[in-house]
Amino acid sequence: MRIIEAKDYADMSRKAANVISAQVILEPRSVLGLATGSTPIGAYKQLIDWYNKGDIDFSQTKSVNLDEYIGLDGSNDQSYRYFMNTNFFDGINIKKENTFVPNGKAPDMEAECKRYDELIKSLGGIDLQLLGIGHDGHIGFNEPGAAFEKTTHIVELEEATIKANARFFGSEEKVPKKAITMGIKSIMQAKKLLLIANGPDKKDIVEKALHGPVTPMVPASILQFHPNLTVVYCFN
Ligand code: F6R
Repeated sequence: MRIIEAKDYADMSRKAANVISAQVILEPRSVLGLATGSTPIGAYKQLIDWYNKGDIDFSQTKSVNLDEYIGLDGSNDQSYRYFMNTNFFDGINIKKENTFVPNGKAPDMEAECKRYDELIKSLGGIDLQLLGIGHDGHIGFNEPGAAFEKTTHIVELEEATIKANARFFGSEEKVPKKAITMGIKSIMQAKKLLLIANGPDKKDIVEKALHGPVTPMVPASILQFHPNLTVVYCFN
């Protein structure tokens, strides 16, 4: 495990973007595993900036995202597909058809989980998976108690998550109650992992995840067992 302490959010974002850009420069055909949330936005902005300066080329790169709400399609501004398009893909030269996010509107969600696992396999697996971490230690939508051996699956959102997300949707009723997420097993199968965390409120959970006992009650604690984990954090 490599742990890099950043000075502030901008520094964390630049360092994370450096790791991602090194991956793409060294292996232009890389498959990047990507995350949504507030933490990676700065890294995505930095990569867009380097792309505009001519430093990185994403034309051969592919991406797979961790998760999506069930019931939202990509045109919904709360969907993770929309987030990825607006915060990253629209700013770089990755081919849209090479960017994959689970389909939250698939008619058969169980079949969609299988399709997503097959898709990742057919791409040759994930070269570098970017991860944020929730206050309860969740990664993707794998909440405490999630089985370590799961691949892509459907989850019921925790009451607390629905409440926390109500601000984005206008009311609790409008928040999707389910999501589709890569499982812990899918995440652990990535060749390299890059975990990023920002803010004083993430300090306790990151310490628990990296140095505490490995337990499904702290899903991110399993990352201690990954042979190629880089962590970049800033707790200021
Ligand atoms: C989103 C995801 C989530 C977030 C986590 C942290 O694709 O996988 O696990 O990484 O909820 O979110 P932020 O970055 O908003 O603190």
